[in-house]
Amino acid sequence: MSGFGIALMVFVLSAMLSIVVSTLRTGISPMPSSAKARQAMLRLVGEVADKQTNYTIVDLGSGWGHLVIPLARRFPQHRVVGYELSWLPWLVSWVMKKALRLDNLTLYRRDCFKADWRGTDIITCYLFASAMKKLGQKLTEDGVHPDWLVSNFFALPSCTPKHTIQLNDLYQTRIYCYRL
Ligand SMILES: C[S@@+](CC[C@H](N)C(=O)[O-])C[C@H]1O[C@@H](n2cnc3c(N)ncnc32)[C@H](O)[C@@H]1O
Repeated sequence: MSGFGIALMVFVLSAMLSIVVSTLRTGISPMPSSAKARQAMLRLVGEVADKQTNYTIVDLGSGWGHLVIPLARRFPQHRVVGYELSWLPWLVSWVMKKALRLDNLTLYRRDCFKADWRGTDIITCYLFASAMKKLGQKLTEDGVHPDWLVSNFFALPSCTPKHTIQLNDLYQTRIYCYRL
């Protein structure tokens, strides 16, 4: 095998390993929202954000950018922020942001639960059950008053959604929209 072949193999293996490690660390893989889920989430966000200007929309765990990039393209009048811990998905989404010149999009490689959420108007997420519990606790912090939360698949404990969309897919996925 050539030197280039070995370097490529080492890169691919370390990229795969990094995804396994970050999945174990965060509790969820960087699996993207499905196309149907994205459409439903964009529609729900649009119902609020289309009437506003200068909103801040935050995607918690932005992965490869499957939701955060369409959000930034669909809402150029708003600031869109993504937080992602896993370096490879974050890097891919960052390259896409640069390629598409999305100046309204900021992508942080950071733990979303350690970030400052003040000034956030709408939160979107596709996380997992215990992260939703953590999210609920973080929403009670001083100065953190987002108006809306749109969550793919996982509900916010002890909270009644204002709207729920059930997708016609294999898992009958629900998209929850909370007025906070
Ligand atoms: C299921 S993916 C969703 C990706 C994207 N939001 C979408 O809808 O396509 C969840 C992502 O959240 C990330 N994640 C989980 N916990 C996190 C945390 N505390 N801070 C930042 N990212 C996190 C994972 O690395 C993973 O990429």
